[in-house]
Amino acid sequence: MNFHVMTLFPDMIKQGCGTSILGRAQENGSIHLEVTNIRDYSDNKHGHVDDYPYGGGAGMVMQAGPVCRAFEAIRGQYEEAPRVIYVTPQGKVFNQAMAEEFASCSNLVFLCGHYEGIDERALEKIVTDYVSIGDYVLTGGELPAMVMIDAISRLVPGVLNNKESAEFESFHDNLLEYPQYTRPEVFEGERVPEVLLSGHHANIEKWRREQSLLRTWERRPDLLEDAVLDKKDRKYLETLKKDLRK
Ligand code: ADE
Repeated sequence: MNFHVMTLFPDMIKQGCGTSILGRAQENGSIHLEVTNIRDYSDNKHGHVDDYPYGGGAGMVMQAGPVCRAFEAIRGQYEEAPRVIYVTPQGKVFNQAMAEEFASCSNLVFLCGHYEGIDERALEKIVTDYVSIGDYVLTGGELPAMVMIDAISRLVPGVLNNKESAEFESFHDNLLEYPQYTRPEVFEGERVPEVLLSGHHANIEKWRREQSLLRTWERRPDLLEDAVLDKKDRKYLETLKKDLRK
């Protein structure tokens, strides 16, 4: 998987993606990250890439020229035009299904904006997807791009080792993960749930599944609509609802 990030703050991306699992994935070649500094494509000696907005108003707007030239340098490396994701609070909100779809692409370009945004003509020319990471406004697109690169990368073969990828995870079957415990058995008077010490695998599995259902029902009931549930799951959820009515 080749990731390209177009940004005015290349160090932020290189540092953020250079450590931990993404750093290891770059070293072992599972992912490749190329960071393009949009400022390198400025057409003036001061390296300016922004200007005042036509029509007036606060802030500065990133100019179309540097953004389009930076993109052309990336575009030239491929026969087929890559997907270009503009990270913006005006986009569709990113989720696990989108991470899976993007993970099936060979090449992805992230465009990070700053200031009051980017000249619309550049966006119209190059952007294929407008994506947000949530309904709040950040100072720039670098953190959202890194969030998405992280979520996409962990789905790319070779990024996680067997142990990491075998781990049960939140959003498996659209349910939240059950609670985890490790030593000591008693912490500040609180015991680990007895069933986990029993060695009875079937009972442990049942307890974990019910905890997942309970957690999802309490914290993210919206997820239950698309959850993969069997007869036993539905019955357990019915008992939760009955208990609530009591
Ligand atoms: N840029 C600023 N805020 C953002 C957000 N919430 N998602 C994506 N890009 C952004």
